[in-house]
Amino acid sequence: MALSSFGYVGYRSADLSEWNTYGTSLLGLQVVDSTRQSIAFRMDDRKQRIIVEAGDGGGASFYGWEAEDREALHAICRRLDQAEVPYTKMPTALCEQRAITEGVTFFDPAGNRLEVFYGATVADDDFAPSRAISGFVTGPLGLGHIALYVENIEPAHEFYTKILGFRMSDYVTAPFRAFFYHINPRHHSVALIEGKSNDVHHMMMELYHLDDVGQGYDIALKTPEMIATTLGRHSNDFMTSFYTRTPSQFLMEYGWGGKLINVNDWTPYEVTVGPSIWGHERDWLSEEGRQKAREMKLKAASDGVREPLYVAGDNFRDNAINCIWWEQARKASDSSDM
Ligand SMILES: [Fe+2]
Repeated sequence: MALSSFGYVGYRSADLSEWNTYGTSLLGLQVVDSTRQSIAFRMDDRKQRIIVEAGDGGGASFYGWEAEDREALHAICRRLDQAEVPYTKMPTALCEQRAITEGVTFFDPAGNRLEVFYGATVADDDFAPSRAISGFVTGPLGLGHIALYVENIEPAHEFYTKILGFRMSDYVTAPFRAFFYHINPRHHSVALIEGKSNDVHHMMMELYHLDDVGQGYDIALKTPEMIATTLGRHSNDFMTSFYTRTPSQFLMEYGWGGKLINVNDWTPYEVTVGPSIWGHERDWLSEEGRQKAREMKLKAASDGVREPLYVAGDNFRDNAINCIWWEQARKASDSSDM
């Protein structure tokens, strides 16, 4: 794979001070640079991951995709050449601004500005979250994932898979059409959601501890209208998460427990249970869509759909269950699965 991860992202906002408050008091990001024109946030050892620029209209300005090294960047350029996609080398001043060594920029079929780069600057000091969180799951998995509304999924699918080397993880067709793609073990780094316009739908950031997410939910509940999707669990990456509206209008998913996949042995499939196995009431869906989603979740409940937890690091203890009826029930379940 030529691309390794989702490296950085840029948004627009008419109100940078609102972003400052949102990014620190809810998300727990660290402000590293704040001017009247822009604000930059850290979320790990990188110098910056999220840049918000002053501007009307909200939404995203650019998406930075990391290539492992110079050779990987040039391999992407060769694929762009073959596909006759025009691209521009990023000037030195822009590379310095992005805190990268080298990069190129071009547009996807939906008009999103993509920047492929290598050599991101690592900060000299430790990440200091602005509220008491355990930290974000980043490193080789990248900063999280991005979900894009696209009017026409097919050309975007061709572009991300054939030129950029993304591989499909899975897809849903109801209550909306959405396709999920990976470039590393994170279940998806990009999702394409069929919509009425080309826009950013949401970004996801993943926390180490479930309690970071729950405590963030309590903070968000102080402003209930900020919550766009209630706490719930996804049916494909098994992320437990909630979504808030950012000061740039799009949504931010704040989650825990995303499944990692084996990129060398993965077959895409249709997820028919719906996008979530419980929770995740989406206020941005039509009433018809919400009703359909509720029906699917209640069916999941009546079917007894449940999935294991995917836990990172040392944030769990394995309870040694010693309960006769549970062991009997488990053995009966195991033998019926055989
Ligand atoms: Fe998501």
